[in-house]
Amino acid sequence: MLRIGIMAALYEEIADLLDTMESVVTRRIGMRDYHSGMLHGRPCVVVLARVGKVAAAATAVTLIREFSVDRLIFTGLAGGVAGHVSVGDVVIGTALLQHDLDASPLFPRHEIPLLNCSRIPADAGLSSKLERAAKAYLQQGWPHDISPATREAFNLSVPRVHVGLIVSGDQFVNRAAAVQALRSELPGALCVEMEGAAVAQVCHEYGARFAIVRTVSDRADDSASHDFSGFLAAVASHYSAGILRQVLDTL
Ligand code: ADE
Repeated sequence: MLRIGIMAALYEEIADLLDTMESVVTRRIGMRDYHSGMLHGRPCVVVLARVGKVAAAATAVTLIREFSVDRLIFTGLAGGVAGHVSVGDVVIGTALLQHDLDASPLFPRHEIPLLNCSRIPADAGLSSKLERAAKAYLQQGWPHDISPATREAFNLSVPRVHVGLIVSGDQFVNRAAAVQALRSELPGALCVEMEGAAVAQVCHEYGARFAIVRTVSDRADDSASHDFSGFLAAVASHYSAGILRQVLDTL
C-alpha cells in the first residue's frame, strides 16, 4: 500500500489529523517529530514542518529519504491573491513558484538557478484527487464542521475550490500594496503561502509526486495577520482533516 507523507507548517493545521492517527510510532530527526501510523486505513507519515521554505525543504527531503514516502501532500493556510479567491475557499496548486526568488541579472526573475524553470508542476493525478476531495468536503463535511457562528465571524458563505498557480516566499504578506504588487507581477497567482514551492523543488529534484492544498485564511492585506490568527485557531484543522480524510479514501 502507498505510504503518504503529510506536512503542514503549524500545529493547528494538522491537530485533528494527529488525533485520528492510529498505531503511531514517532521518530525525531532534525528537530522535527515524524509520526508514522495509520490514517483512515492508509500508512502515513505526518510531520509538523514549521514555517518557511528552508523548513519545508528540509522536512520534504527527510520524508523522501528516511521514510520512503510514495506521495507527499502539504496542507495548510494561504492568503488569497486573485480577486475571486475568498476567505474559506480551497486552492489546489497545479504549479508552484517562489515569488521572492530573484537572481537577476544572472538568471531571469523567479527562475531557479541551474534548474531552468520557475514554475514546478504538481502531480496531476494526486492534485485532481485532492480537488475532488475538497469539493466533497465542502459539500458534505463543511456544513457539520463549521458552525453558523463561525461562518458569520469569518464571513464565509459558499466556499469554492480553485485550481492553479500558488506562489511561495519567506514573507507573511500583510499589506494591500504588497499583495497588489504580487497580483501585477504574477497575474495567474491564486494565493500566497510560505512553503509549497520549496516542497515542489525538492520533489522535482528527487522525482517524488506531490500536491499542495491550501485553505484561504486571509486576503494578504492590512488585516491579514488578524484574520489569519482567528482562522488558524477556529477553522484550519477542520479543513485539513476533512479534505485529507476524503482523499485518503481514494489513494
Ligand atoms: N499563509 C496564510 N496567509 C498568508 C499570507 N498572507 N502570506 C503568506 N503566507 C500565508
